[in-house]
Amino acid sequence: MGSAIKKSGISREEIFLTTKVWIEHYGYENTRQSVFESMKKLQTEYLDLVLLHQPFGDTYGAWRALEDLYEEGKIRAIGISNFYVDRMVEFVNFNRIKPMITQMEVHIFNQQKQLKEYADKYNVQLEAWAPFGEGRGNTFNNEVM
Ligand SMILES: NC(=O)c1ccc[n+]([C@@H]2O[C@H](COP(=O)([O-])OP(=O)(O)OC[C@H]3O[C@@H](n4cnc5c(N)ncnc54)[C@H](OP(=O)(O)O)[C@@H]3O)[C@@H](O)[C@H]2O)c1
Repeated sequence: MGSAIKKSGISREEIFLTTKVWIEHYGYENTRQSVFESMKKLQTEYLDLVLLHQPFGDTYGAWRALEDLYEEGKIRAIGISNFYVDRMVEFVNFNRIKPMITQMEVHIFNQQKQLKEYADKYNVQLEAWAPFGEGRGNTFNNEVM
C-alpha cells in the first residue's frame, strides 16, 4: 500500500488513509508500537483514521494509546469498529476522548438503526463497512429494495 501510494503520484494530503489495530496488538504499548509499524509499512508520517478492529481484550489500554497518538498529531481521527451499541455507549462515556467514528457492517439488508440512533445521540459518525453488502443480495436489482 505504501509503495502504491508513492507510485500513484497523488499527494499524501489528497488521500484519506485508514488502518485498524487488530486485537492481538491491544494494550497500551502494543497498540502504540503497532500504529508506528503501520505508519512505517504505509510510508507515511501520519494516519487519517485508526480504528480498533474488534471489541475484545484490552480495548481501554489500546484506546489510551490512540488518544495519545491523536494528541501527538500522528493520527487525525480515532474510532472503533464492530462495537455493538452497548459497547459503543460505554466507550463514549468512559474514555477521555470519545470515538469520532464507529465503523460497522451497514447496508440495505443490515441497517443498524439502533446503532445509528445512538451514534447520532453521542455525535459519533457512523461509517459503513460492506456498504454494498460485499456484492451479496443482488442489491442493485432487488425488486423489494
Ligand atoms: N471493520 C471490519 O471489520 C471490516 C470488515 C469488512 C470490510 N471492511 C472494510 O470495508 C470496506 C468496504 O468493504 P467491501 O469492499 O468488502 O464492501 P462492499 O463495497 O460492500 O463490497 C464490494 C463488493 O461489492 C461489489 N459491487 C460493487 N459495486 C457493485 C455494483 N454496482 N453491482 C454489483 N456489485 C457491486 C463488488 O464486486 P466486484 O468485486 O465484482 O466488483 C465487490 O465485491 C473496505 O475498506 C474494508 O476494508 C471492514
